[in-house]
Amino acid sequence: MSHYTTSKRYSDSSATDQSISTELEANYEEIHVPALVIGAGAAGARVAIELRQQGIEPLVIGKRDYGDAHTTWAAGGINASLGSRDPEDSWEIHAADTLEEGHFINDPEAVELVAREMPERIRELDEWGMAFARTDDGKIQQRYFGAQSFRRTCFVGDRTGEAMLDTLVEKAQSLSIPYRENVMITRLLSDGETVSGAVGFDMETGEFLVFVTDHVVLAAGGSSAIYNRHSSRDEENNGDGPALALDAGAELLDMEFIQFHPTGMVGARYGDDWDGRLVTEAVRGEGGRLYNSDGERFMERYSPDQMELDARDVVARAIAQEIREGRGTDNGGVYLDISHRDDEYIRERLPRMVERFASLGVDITTDPMEVAPTAHYTMGGVDIDPHTGETAVDGLYAVGETTAGVHGANRLGGNSLAETVAIAKPVGQHIAAEINSAGVATDGGSKTIAETDRTLSDLMRTQAAEEFAALRRLEDADGEATPETLLEELGALLWNHAGIIRTGEELQAGLDKLAVLQQRVADLAVAGDRTSRSFELAVDVGFSLTVAETTLRGALERAESRGAHYRADYPDVDDEFQQNISVSDSENELALDKRAVGQPSQAVQTALDGHYELDYHHLE
Ligand code: FUM
Repeated sequence: MSHYTTSKRYSDSSATDQSISTELEANYEEIHVPALVIGAGAAGARVAIELRQQGIEPLVIGKRDYGDAHTTWAAGGINASLGSRDPEDSWEIHAADTLEEGHFINDPEAVELVAREMPERIRELDEWGMAFARTDDGKIQQRYFGAQSFRRTCFVGDRTGEAMLDTLVEKAQSLSIPYRENVMITRLLSDGETVSGAVGFDMETGEFLVFVTDHVVLAAGGSSAIYNRHSSRDEENNGDGPALALDAGAELLDMEFIQFHPTGMVGARYGDDWDGRLVTEAVRGEGGRLYNSDGERFMERYSPDQMELDARDVVARAIAQEIREGRGTDNGGVYLDISHRDDEYIRERLPRMVERFASLGVDITTDPMEVAPTAHYTMGGVDIDPHTGETAVDGLYAVGETTAGVHGANRLGGNSLAETVAIAKPVGQHIAAEINSAGVATDGGSKTIAETDRTLSDLMRTQAAEEFAALRRLEDADGEATPETLLEELGALLWNHAGIIRTGEELQAGLDKLAVLQQRVADLAVAGDRTSRSFELAVDVGFSLTVAETTLRGALERAESRGAHYRADYPDVDDEFQQNISVSDSENELALDKRAVGQPSQAVQTALDGHYELDYHHLE
């Protein structure tokens, strides 16, 4: 079994207490805040807005410039049972679809919360200026997305995430919510039971930072970018959120469930820079068809009723099988074609796709695209109470893709953007109530950065000092292995050993290889100071290795096939495994455990019993 160490893996333990405390006193900026939101995508922004509206002034920090977060790459839409096109839809059926496609290991409370909240959250975004597509009679337009019984996905062309983040950032700015750009958090200050802040550095100046707070919200994304073929931005979704939480004492759930989106761009055709980039599900939602190299519309064999709009895991496995059995294109993909639809319609509904492919010399109104599955989303993550965002560590909360619960074994397209805002609002409300009831400063009800005056305990000061010492040593690391090489090797390892189709033997071999990579961290070569890309990637290596181990271990433990986790050696669903697999850090070793899932409410059970299903003929 491979050996697990915490995010301190890039450090050694040679620094003395004396040298540590001198260093802490000498070189850092200390920032006191009532609540710190780590991550500035949709989930982080929405928590911050709620906090501000409840009289708390949080600080939001992000690794990039203000307004630039991974949310901008979310494309096809956001789900809410508005019934604009299909009045029979309801929040109960939205919840039932989500549970069914999550293969019943989702947290039913989280699912029901999201489905119930979403109509109101969409109306709110609309009111705040998000320019949703409209029907002829002025309602918010809705399109089909995979495995959903009704047209439920609201959208802004195929730039829905970007439009949503712009709207949230504008709202946050109108509320004067403080934001600090280009900050990387490397460790949470925690004694395993209570969080007291976070430490990291300013990526532009290299300055060390200590954030002192009783309320830390992790909104730092998932980990699908640790696979070498992925749809995320390269330096995001690399596992920092879940790894920071695990290190602080929180539990992770269901880390084996990685979603492979069926349609990523094929690098051999469009160039390496485009390899794995998303071709939105909206192409299929608007009628796009998949063909193999024999010109066969192969989904007729795999899913004659739901065709290209079956669940993502089904379509991704079908494409992988076509390619594996020699019916793929010369470039290693299959064809996705929407050219049978009217040109103007395609341009209006899929402007980003039209533009992107045009820049590569392909007119998608006349020609097909070449696509193949790509790692897209992490269903697993930090275990939270969805009503409060609370983790197993007091004062540590999590929201968005960093968390587990809503999506179970397979996420419905359009439910990730939904989750960000639906859960962020009650989480923000809860934290605000906690802060207000603790009665920090009250000046007209508003608590600001300057008014927070807690001090760090000796233990936390020592943790911060240890972390800074470790970061200094990392900066000076002059071994043989560059962070780029290690991340590249890790990406290939995961793709080959924990990909779309897995076996116990391959997973174990993956863990053995991972143990070797973990050892090579001691031989890192960092080219540049703390403001360099090399240093950022060197920090990422620690997070990514941690999360990779949780994925491989969870996948080995789950000896069945369910949703996105397909084990060729256990090809069937096993009812014994209708459980969540939790992961915790037990004295620097990962401990895995199983736990029972909850039951849906009677209202949602009734919707499940109704067996609603996508009516595919609307697209023909
Ligand atoms: O294909 C897409 O547009 C992705 C949407 C999602 O993952 O929710």
